[in-house]
Amino acid sequence: MRKHAFALGGASLLLGVSVIAAHAQIETTTPPDPPEFAAQSEPVFVGVSDILEYRALDSYNEPEWIKTNFVDTGKLPPVEERLPAEPLVYKTSNMPDGVGTYGDVMRHVIGGRPEGWNYIGGQAQGWGGIDIGLSECLTRTGPLFMINADELEPLPNLAKSWEWSEDGHELTMHLIEGAKWSDGDPFDTEDLMFYWEDHILDQNVSPLNGGTPETFGVGTTLEAIDEYTVKWTFQEAFPTQYLYAMAYGTFCPGPSHILKPEHPKYNPDNTYEEYKNAFPPEYLNIPVMGAWVPVEYRPDDIIVMRRNPYYWKVDEEGNQLPYLDEMHYRLSTWADRDVQAVAGSGDFSNLEQAESYVEALRRSAEETAPARLQFGARTIGYALRMNFSGNGWGEPDEREQAIRELNRTLEFRQAISMAVDRQRLGESLVRGPFTAIYPGGLYAGTTYYDKDSTVYYPFNLEQANAMLDELGLVDTDGNGVRNFPEGTAGGQDVEITLLANTDYATDTNLAEGVIAMMEPLGLRVIANFQQGTARDDMAQAGQYDWSVERQGAEMVSVVQGTSGLAPTGPRTHPFHRAGTDGTLDLLPFEEELVQIVRDFIATSDNAERAELMKQYQQVFTENVYSVGLTQYPGALIINKRFKNIPAGAPIFMFNWAEDNIIRERVFVPTEDQPGHELHPQTLPDVPGGGGPISG
Ligand code: GLA
Repeated sequence: MRKHAFALGGASLLLGVSVIAAHAQIETTTPPDPPEFAAQSEPVFVGVSDILEYRALDSYNEPEWIKTNFVDTGKLPPVEERLPAEPLVYKTSNMPDGVGTYGDVMRHVIGGRPEGWNYIGGQAQGWGGIDIGLSECLTRTGPLFMINADELEPLPNLAKSWEWSEDGHELTMHLIEGAKWSDGDPFDTEDLMFYWEDHILDQNVSPLNGGTPETFGVGTTLEAIDEYTVKWTFQEAFPTQYLYAMAYGTFCPGPSHILKPEHPKYNPDNTYEEYKNAFPPEYLNIPVMGAWVPVEYRPDDIIVMRRNPYYWKVDEEGNQLPYLDEMHYRLSTWADRDVQAVAGSGDFSNLEQAESYVEALRRSAEETAPARLQFGARTIGYALRMNFSGNGWGEPDEREQAIRELNRTLEFRQAISMAVDRQRLGESLVRGPFTAIYPGGLYAGTTYYDKDSTVYYPFNLEQANAMLDELGLVDTDGNGVRNFPEGTAGGQDVEITLLANTDYATDTNLAEGVIAMMEPLGLRVIANFQQGTARDDMAQAGQYDWSVERQGAEMVSVVQGTSGLAPTGPRTHPFHRAGTDGTLDLLPFEEELVQIVRDFIATSDNAERAELMKQYQQVFTENVYSVGLTQYPGALIINKRFKNIPAGAPIFMFNWAEDNIIRERVFVPTEDQPGHELHPQTLPDVPGGGGPISG
């Protein structure tokens, strides 16, 4: 029984009413087992070295038109000079359909819009795999869904190898040597140090996916030893966990030769805002380490990307990757992504909005369906998150501050959780065996989930109402809405704003559901529905009372995004960040969570880790750290002409499917290529230039 949250947190506004009595009667249970739902295909499990290695090959190849139009005419050095001495080599034995052929396009459809290309400076590119295709990171996690459990460790990527010092406090990492950005500029430790010192350590910058110093451990340092070697120093011994933080999206360096001149540290004329916005979507050919470079942008229409002539990965026959010459990102809606992928006018979708499952399944089952659709495990989950900062994050006004105090009160959160009818909420999205009751915390069916450690407050509106009465929230003016106690926020109606993302029907449908379910509880919840980027900005800035959102990979894998499982640093956690004075006002149970997460990171003993995650789940769910809503499976939809799609690739696990399927290895047999390329036989231009250049 945890009374401390009440005693410390929200007591100030509660007129000293005792809630202990009500608390004692709360009925909790373990959650019901999710309905049976078998994933449709299983991965072929392998070790890391079965997938790739780094080595020099005798000779290299590239598309014929590059040779004739660019190399033979002196516009580009020969492919062997553009590749690193020892490129990353994908092994044929791990390619489901073997060595591929060049050409064709993967036509993505996305619901986001690009803010610009300064990914490490905090700009979004529109999601849906576009940034995943541009950025390469020190390590890589997407393909881990197919790695044997006993060898689970991030794949090497820009970092080709690493070794730990004997005492485990130092990690020396070796970068791939001689790799180049897509404009031919050398990639080296200068790019890493620019990211670390001027983005992670510089508090004025918020990299897109939220890397902060604590993401890599309190007191961690990074130094460059030489052009291709860096040394990490950690306070913990052997914190192998941080290798996951070095993957997408928290350690993917940007092109320092292009970004540095705009960063305020090197260019005092620029503000941080100017730095962030220095590379708008119209700025084409931003140098990348990824397989494709943006060469065309038409607002609300399309982003076209062409193959990176300096890409540093090859197949075993020496063919420079990627096989696909072009990538499209049609700027539309997420729902349209499903529709187009099923219809064949788009090529790829993560089917994740449960409302469209029945129709998508029906169409895909037809023999003439252009795309295959494959369901995976239940890794899509939504929660109602409350803003936990009581000391000023997001600069709350008086009403908002009063809500924060409620959010910080255990009995309040318990009451909200009990007022949510999760069965009904899930069924409102889709009927059938898809959705499962989700109390919060780790998802059922994932590695670290333990049912017996999961505290579930079943739907009980009557008790929820009694608890709010006990908290002194009473409808004093008879308008059907409870009021704050006199002296708090002027005794006005308890009104709570709920932030949600209008880019997804599921987000707003679930938010609407929550709003409706709070009405019989006497709480007026007001929709604050915002388009994706605006929503993300408000969430980042702490400008919300409540938020309904789809959760990140940490609730699925635990090992990815681990430091974000609790407020381990001032800016690492999604809904509790430091207030105006830079400190975190953690509740005692949050301190416990922080300690558990730190202990988890500090040990690599599997039994101990499992035990720690049981504790995490217990403390999380007992305290209703967030109100879980529903969890369900997603399906990967890919046009049938694409080859080398790994079996059992989930739409979301250690990363999104756009990373999981290893797109640089995906190909379309020549005879199946439908001729969708918009800029055939062209390559990216110089940075900032007008678009693709032809030979
Ligand atoms: C969005 C989409 C996901 C996935 C990711 C990739 O969030 O909703 O399905 O494509 O982008 O970043």
